Amino acid sequence: MAKGEIVMGALAPHPPHLVYAENPSQNEPVSEGGWEELRWGYERLRKSLADKEFDVIIIHTPHWQTYVGTHFLGVPHFKNLSVDPIFPNLFRYNYDLTVDVELSRSIHDHAAKTGLHVQMMENPDFRIDYGTITSCHLVRPDWDLPIVCISSNRSRNYFSVEVMQANMVKLGQATREAIEASGKRALLLSSNSLSHRHFTEEPEVPEDMSQEHITNHHQYLWDMKMIELMCSGKTREMIDIMPDFTEQTVAETDAGSLTWLMSALDFPEYQGEIHAYGTVIGTGNAIIGWDPASA
Ligand SMILES: [Fe+2]
Repeated sequence: MAKGEIVMGALAPHPPHLVYAENPSQNEPVSEGGWEELRWGYERLRKSLADKEFDVIIIHTPHWQTYVGTHFLGVPHFKNLSVDPIFPNLFRYNYDLTVDVELSRSIHDHAAKTGLHVQMMENPDFRIDYGTITSCHLVRPDWDLPIVCISSNRSRNYFSVEVMQANMVKLGQATREAIEASGKRALLLSSNSLSHRHFTEEPEVPEDMSQEHITNHHQYLWDMKMIELMCSGKTREMIDIMPDFTEQTVAETDAGSLTWLMSALDFPEYQGEIHAYGTVIGTGNAIIGWDPASA
């Protein structure tokens, strides 16, 4: 069997507003558009994947939060309605997805060997989080490939960003080893925003773009610093300043998704390709792809 590989890793944030703005048939609310910068960025990411063949999408999501270890979906098929708890007016999405349980279990087993606390999630009535649905929809709206979905262990809440990162480095290595052993080709998604201080009131028309901007300037400066490091191959340096960035901008990197991705890609020294940067209710969001073939 040929060695499996990561065909691309991407930072693929999940504001539900982006799905709302696209008006796909699966989502009940209807919009007049909005957040085009980011939606066009996702279009460019999809184009960059058009000539790649892959078998599975592996996603690490901030909105499946587990407090005892890292969990993995372990049921082959899920179909249900996902309602965003904060924005039920924007996101009521009928999902129907399949899971590569074999690969999911293999990553689980590789992670267990590193000493991480892990568990398979085998409840068939489990409701898939909107982070997973949004990022996967925007990257691959056809839903024609199975996914592996990895929870966010909240070690940052009990301990610190440093402890979270130490665990996510192990989880990333375990993910890479399991992919290589599987013979499969995988797309990896880190489903998170960057800076995450956001507005607390919604405009009357949610997609009124005259209301959209970064919450504050220092958040913008931090986002630009992180993007500069990611796009110039200085990903280890980016991980080193992650604790300060995460604390000072209330960043969604606290979930561990981005650290996991960097570790799975073995801390790229090649350039990440930025497809877009934009804000959603004041949060900073970047869409960036790392293509190992460009190494
Ligand atoms: Fe989020």
